[in-house]
Amino acid sequence: MLCDYSGNLGKPTANDDEIALRKDEFRMETAQLGKDGPLVTPICFGCWSMGGAWRFGWADIDNDESIAAVHKALDLGVNFFDNAAVYGLGHAETVLAEALGDKRKEVVIATKCGVWWFDDERGFYRNSLPAQIKRDCEESLRRLRTDYIDLYQIHWPDDKVPCDESMRALLDLVQDGKVRYVGVCNYSVDQMRESMKAGWFTSSQPPYNMLRRDVEVDVLPLCQENDTGVMAYSPLASGILAGHYTEATTLGEGDWRNGDPAFQGERFKSHLHKVDHLRPVAQKYGKTMVQLAIAWVLRHPAADIAIVGMKRPSHVEGAVGAVGWEIDDEDMAHINEILAAS
Ligand SMILES: NC(=O)c1ccc[n+]([C@@H]2O[C@H](COP(=O)([O-])OP(=O)(O)OC[C@H]3O[C@@H](n4cnc5c(N)ncnc54)[C@H](OP(=O)(O)O)[C@@H]3O)[C@@H](O)[C@H]2O)c1
Repeated sequence: MLCDYSGNLGKPTANDDEIALRKDEFRMETAQLGKDGPLVTPICFGCWSMGGAWRFGWADIDNDESIAAVHKALDLGVNFFDNAAVYGLGHAETVLAEALGDKRKEVVIATKCGVWWFDDERGFYRNSLPAQIKRDCEESLRRLRTDYIDLYQIHWPDDKVPCDESMRALLDLVQDGKVRYVGVCNYSVDQMRESMKAGWFTSSQPPYNMLRRDVEVDVLPLCQENDTGVMAYSPLASGILAGHYTEATTLGEGDWRNGDPAFQGERFKSHLHKVDHLRPVAQKYGKTMVQLAIAWVLRHPAADIAIVGMKRPSHVEGAVGAVGWEIDDEDMAHINEILAAS
């Protein structure tokens, strides 16, 4: 997981930025995802915000800016993109296809099936029945303007359908040549074990960041034991760990985070307090909070990938400085103390 990027974005001088970001100065190494997966960069471009403002989306998203962010990612060597059918009800896949254009074959596209939006009253629904998975796949292939999906994942467990039944449907798609690798998201260890009865899956995608560590107990150890690739989502706690919020921060109208308890009241204040204590650790390495938070996720031996939500080119520039260095043991212990304090 080495790269020759100097990673000095935390304290740039006039020239450092330009020099560090020149493509010939930068090479992010790829590694195999899990036991048998594709070769991918440790930073994966999270495409959720590309879906823009829909019922459960992001405010103030501009398609051109999303496309520019993808181009910046390609320039800086990021080769991995995580999307989902439900992001913007298909819009995020359409925008990604437009952004990639003839570069599609140079990248690894992950997308997801089995979740859609009913209406305002009923909200989301999950459907991981084999017939639905196969229909979802056709739709994603069409929107992504491709004849194969690199990594096809079940977005959320559907308690009406046995996990091994859904997994068999994914594996059928591999047999059909429509999908190269398969994975799951938001699965418990029991759900992963049940899925394994159907066959091998390459990756698991759990939420994992400094403020949300429950998967350390069971999901990450199971993945490590089985050499299942781990793609940690929301490494910045959807922005809280990025270090730019204050108690006065407001999010745009329609931003899903307005309804997330992590962004409300005392809980939000306590998170910001932790960020204040973490910032000096980042500074010690000449790094930003964004870079420290992502590097912390990648420091876990099970975590192969951090899926970072990047809305604009500057987000990509910030995120790539998270690789190529490591937080030392002493600082890991110090960070744990900060996180454990209330
Ligand atoms: N499988 C699932 O169920 C699931 C669920 C959630 C997410 N995901 C995946 O994970 C991806 C990331 O999740 P996420 O967007 O929730 O979380 P995230 O990566 O933890 O946070 C993204 C937010 O961090 C801020 N940010 C990112 N880069 C920055 C930079 N360089 N400088 C300053 N701020 C920066 C931005 O905040 P502002 O908005 O304040 O600018 C951005 O919206 C998604 O796109 C999706 O692919 C999967």
